[in-house]
Amino acid sequence: QVAILDFGSQYSHLIARRVREMNVYCELYSCLVPIEELAPHNLTAIILSGGPNSVYEEGAPHVSKEIWDMIAERDIPVLGICYGMQELAHVFGGKVAPGQEREYGKAMVKRIEGCQSRLFDGLPEEFQMWMSHGDKLHAVPEGFKKAAGTSNADFVAIENEDKKMWGLQFHPEVTHSPRGADILKNFVVNIAGAKQDWVMTDYANEFIESVRKQVGEHGHVIGAVSGGVDSTVAAVLMNKAIGHRFHAVMVDNGCLRKDEAKNVLKRLREDCGVDLRCIDAADRFMGLLEGVTDPERKRKIIGGTFIDIFQEEAEKIEKEFGHCDWLLQGTLYPDVIESISYKGPSATIKTHHNVGGLPATMKLKLIEPLRELFKDEVRALGIALGIDEVSVWRHPFPGPGLAIRILGEVNKKHAEILRHADAIMIEELYKSGHYRAIGQAFVVLMPTVKSVGVMGDGRTYENVCAIRCVETTDYMTADFYHLPYEVMSNMSSRIINEVRGINRVCYDISSKPPATIEWE
Ligand code: XMP
Repeated sequence: QVAILDFGSQYSHLIARRVREMNVYCELYSCLVPIEELAPHNLTAIILSGGPNSVYEEGAPHVSKEIWDMIAERDIPVLGICYGMQELAHVFGGKVAPGQEREYGKAMVKRIEGCQSRLFDGLPEEFQMWMSHGDKLHAVPEGFKKAAGTSNADFVAIENEDKKMWGLQFHPEVTHSPRGADILKNFVVNIAGAKQDWVMTDYANEFIESVRKQVGEHGHVIGAVSGGVDSTVAAVLMNKAIGHRFHAVMVDNGCLRKDEAKNVLKRLREDCGVDLRCIDAADRFMGLLEGVTDPERKRKIIGGTFIDIFQEEAEKIEKEFGHCDWLLQGTLYPDVIESISYKGPSATIKTHHNVGGLPATMKLKLIEPLRELFKDEVRALGIALGIDEVSVWRHPFPGPGLAIRILGEVNKKHAEILRHADAIMIEELYKSGHYRAIGQAFVVLMPTVKSVGVMGDGRTYENVCAIRCVETTDYMTADFYHLPYEVMSNMSSRIINEVRGINRVCYDISSKPPATIEWE
């Protein structure tokens, strides 16, 4: 395996992802990993990640002496990236100090004439890479030579072929470094000779094995399953790992899409073999939402009630089986980065409801099988697990559901109108072949806005709705989708003709920022 020692960079998981993309097995460890944990593995290569510290500062993290000794003994190739390169330099006697200027963003990296570094095989003499550092290398350690520089820094790539050590000041793992993946591949495959035989199903098998150990022979796990790709993949994995000791629960809050509970139950049970239970709590939620129009209040009510129901379910399992010890969560890597990268107070734009906020009294330990993956990797894993394409390619759907797409009071009548219009819109997206290219699509109902129309010979005075389709990869920024007029026109005429209560349809052409994807 390739071991990535993580010094706390925001990009450490991206390194892992790039290595996985080469079909090479890798694992991420803390940079402070004890030798006992690392030594038993057959290590093909070690990559030292970037990190926020300065190597020369007191208290800065360092790889232990025992690990450096093991690297020397076993002759393991090492690549240091950013802080990782500075760590190499620091340990082997180079000089790291603050740079005159901090360097962030794109930089042109120039190879040193006459230096045929194997790391840059196949790359041109000059190439663009992405930098993000304050410290820099002022002198290379003995035995190392300079392999590339920029106009601002002399030593942006160093190497010591004898010791099998390479260092890069820039970040080859980010997509802003267009040839970065080639450099990583040169190191991992060509230099270190890692085997390219790892596939996504291996990820699943490793998880299944480790979760069996973690949960033990008697542990029970509860998990909320919405039917979205993340919770479906997590549930299928858990089901494969511990079968009937996994309790999958879906809550129908009355704000789901048309036939959602029925379809998700069928897919999970019949196609995925997961014994999902649906709790019909529509009346309970609707009762609590009566008269509520404020978006944040809606979210709080729905989130809080969801937690109450989940807690009740966990207690029932506990009573029946003696214990319910673990909670399954479909957390993805971007959720993890977002939650750790906000160091200071940040404005609450919207309170996203998520099971992470379960009360401490539940005392459940978390299992997060997707914590290291990005959305497209979860989809690849879903396909590898044999989950159907419809489940794998579904757009995300927010926890509060249609409640935050009804701008005003949420009640059964409004939910029914919206559900109907939304189903038509989604059907037309599938029919026209646009569903996959879109990140998220939905209809918003504005029950407080009425417009005048004419149907047959009569006047109508009805609701307005808006169609929102966005293109996005990370849901942090988004652009409105350029849906052909013809498709819009079909949607509009079908909605107005078929949905009682809507006589006007608009298309939302705002991007995020400054708008958000949802309207509330
Ligand atoms: P916004 O509206 O903030 O949405 O641009 C970004 C993404 O988050 C989803 N979203 C939520 N998901 N609970 C969720 O589980 C929520 O309360 C929630 N609010 C927004 C939204 O659908 C989009 O995918």
